[in-house]
Amino acid sequence: MLPEQLCATAVAHPNIALIKYWGKRDEQLVLPAADSLSMTLDVFSTTTTVRLDPAASGDHVTLNGAAATGEPHRRVAAFLDLVRDRAGRSEAAVVDTRNTVPTGAGLASSASGFAALALAASAAYGLTLRDTELSRLARRGSGSASRSVFGGFALWRAGEGAGAEGDMSSYAEPVPVGNLDVSLVIAVVDAGPKAISSRAAMRRTVDTSPLYRPWVESSRADLDDMRGALERGDLEAVGEIAERNALGMHATMLAARPAVRYLSPATLTVLDSVSQLRRDGIAAYATMDAGPNVKVLCRSSDAERVVRAVRSGTSQTFVARLGPGASLRPGAVG
Ligand code: PMV
Repeated sequence: MLPEQLCATAVAHPNIALIKYWGKRDEQLVLPAADSLSMTLDVFSTTTTVRLDPAASGDHVTLNGAAATGEPHRRVAAFLDLVRDRAGRSEAAVVDTRNTVPTGAGLASSASGFAALALAASAAYGLTLRDTELSRLARRGSGSASRSVFGGFALWRAGEGAGAEGDMSSYAEPVPVGNLDVSLVIAVVDAGPKAISSRAAMRRTVDTSPLYRPWVESSRADLDDMRGALERGDLEAVGEIAERNALGMHATMLAARPAVRYLSPATLTVLDSVSQLRRDGIAAYATMDAGPNVKVLCRSSDAERVVRAVRSGTSQTFVARLGPGASLRPGAVG
């Protein structure tokens, strides 16, 4: 088979950060200001097929069966340019992406999306990358995608320096964890689109929030504490640290000028339910990303109880557990 006929399919899952990534020191290279740590989920996978099409004049991208145009197309094509540069090739590609996240659930899919695209595209263009290199590549599509290359818990290192030095040193790696039985209840309170993209909101926070530097400092301390809690398999400590880190991230956004506010009244209602669960003796802890939905960390045996507690005020709930890293579909490279 000729190399220009290469085709590959990859599957990846989203991840939820327990120590958040919020803010870049280099936008072009997607170098973060601080390390972050996440768990990869076993739900809402993305499956992406990349097929080279030497006859085409440009990339063709479909998302859940519909042709992508505008910004989504531009981001995928710019990402493919990075892969083509690296592979020393120039063919256009046909990209087909399918997300299993329920449409309109308001849950981001950029992490699973760019992790799957990085793996499928690098294979289709004939590159064999180590996991670390794949993570660096996925990072360029969306920072959090660097962590979805790995299953379980992953730590994305901010790396050091600028330019090539920063690029080489900023990647995710798996975090060894003690015996930890953890589930994440995803409480969807609003399925609408984001008021402001995470990219723009990060930039505004870094540029204008007086709380940004202190949050980065405290996030470094949170990460040290989190690693210890994971090693011990201490779910209460993991949850407490994750919740305070997320609330700190939202506090630093609220202090931006003008404020970035993703949390809604319905978010706060779920936070109240989570506090009540704790008063009732259930280990439940909340984290929120660039949107109003809440993810509640708990023991798997408590997940149904948590679902019942957060149900009022939410439109949908899902229970996720630890999921696998990105993988190529067997036999899908051809
Ligand atoms: O990778 P991005 O640009 O979608 O940013 C993700 C930012 C948060 O989800 C809010 C935090 C994180 O670490 O995933």
